[in-house]
Amino acid sequence: MAFLAQPLELAGLHLRNRLVMLPMVTNLAQPDSTVSEATIAHYGARAAREVGMVIVEATAVAQDARNIARGLGAWDDDHVPGLARLANRIKAGGAAAALQLFHSGARSVAGLPAVSPSGVSLRPGAPPRVLAEEELPAIVAQFAAAARRAVVAGFDAIEVHAAHMYLLSEFLSPFSNHRQDHYGGDVARRARLVEEVVRVVRREAGPSFPVLLRMHGEERVQGGMTHQDVLDTAERLAEAGVDAFDVSAINTAQLVEKGGYSYWSTKPYLTKDDPPGAALGNAAAIRQATGVPVIAVGKMGLPEVAERALATCQADLVGVARGFLCDPGLALKLLEGRGEDIIRCDECFVCLDLVVTQHKSIRCSQNRSLGRLAATAEAAKS
Ligand SMILES: Cc1cc2nc3c(=O)[nH]c(=O)nc-3n(C[C@H](O)[C@H](O)[C@H](O)COP(=O)(O)O)c2cc1C
Repeated sequence: MAFLAQPLELAGLHLRNRLVMLPMVTNLAQPDSTVSEATIAHYGARAAREVGMVIVEATAVAQDARNIARGLGAWDDDHVPGLARLANRIKAGGAAAALQLFHSGARSVAGLPAVSPSGVSLRPGAPPRVLAEEELPAIVAQFAAAARRAVVAGFDAIEVHAAHMYLLSEFLSPFSNHRQDHYGGDVARRARLVEEVVRVVRREAGPSFPVLLRMHGEERVQGGMTHQDVLDTAERLAEAGVDAFDVSAINTAQLVEKGGYSYWSTKPYLTKDDPPGAALGNAAAIRQATGVPVIAVGKMGLPEVAERALATCQADLVGVARGFLCDPGLALKLLEGRGEDIIRCDECFVCLDLVVTQHKSIRCSQNRSLGRLAATAEAAKS
């Protein structure tokens, strides 16, 4: 049997295979951040049939913590029924359903207040407000309450988003954390907030419920986490209770001047020049340092790349994002090793530009069926 098709027991959760659909914001939620029919249709169409686990997009733990206008939320009990329908829809197809919880920090959607550890600008406009130490317990409590709602909604796992220069990741990285209090300085202090979050999520989820954590395996930015920082941070977070690491990266950072402000634009994607699977070593290093299972990320949606990662024990799970947008049949083709049939993502970034910059629903330049779904969602909004 192909390695990708092999099941895995992850902290008490049975995964039917090693293929993970990675989180991708869609801008398909209702204005109050509840799940919409379009959200259900999007995940149902993509996820459910063959994938081992679906990690649902970044879901805000507070109203001010959104990075897009129509992002999902888990800050209110009113979000639970929709989340429950979504979890059910994914699970009905046999995949495990995980919910990614996040706080946008300095990268909140325009119009919402931006907060951060040290005021480093990461979006156009005025710099973010620096959070006081006394404000941090409330943020930890927001993660706890959101985790409780995810469990009540019937999700099988929770992913804490501590990557991509959103709030938790900003605390982890010396690039964005220059604090001199208990939450800044060495690795232990920078990791402290995230450790607190992991502990409360674990408390809410119970002992045998997978708690995943997305973090950077690499920061290609001056002043970012070093390789050793990454490993030390991962070890601390594993100790705090992480059951699996979803290993992403900051692959480019650019200082942008706009409207009299300057801000860092950081991107968590391999560049066009990076070959498929180029970030696999990051996942392998965290796996080796912590002994905890890892999801490998970064253009992994080709059978030979996915199989190599698993066969060489560099990763336990293979995560794919954009490939699921452009090829609705990706999962089966990957699992059956039919690489020649896969519609390969051409890395045009229309998907991301529409959702994050233009605040429109997700589309793909290579897959019209995704566009039709978006059109229905747009019509419902107007
Ligand atoms: C449209 C879009 C939305 C994304 N939204 C999220 C998100 O909500 N949370 C997250 O952690 N990463 C997000 N990502 C990053 C992906 O999960 C993934 O790490 C990245 O696309 C690299 O994987 P790939 O090469 O398979 O596309 C998003 C990516 C895209 C293209």
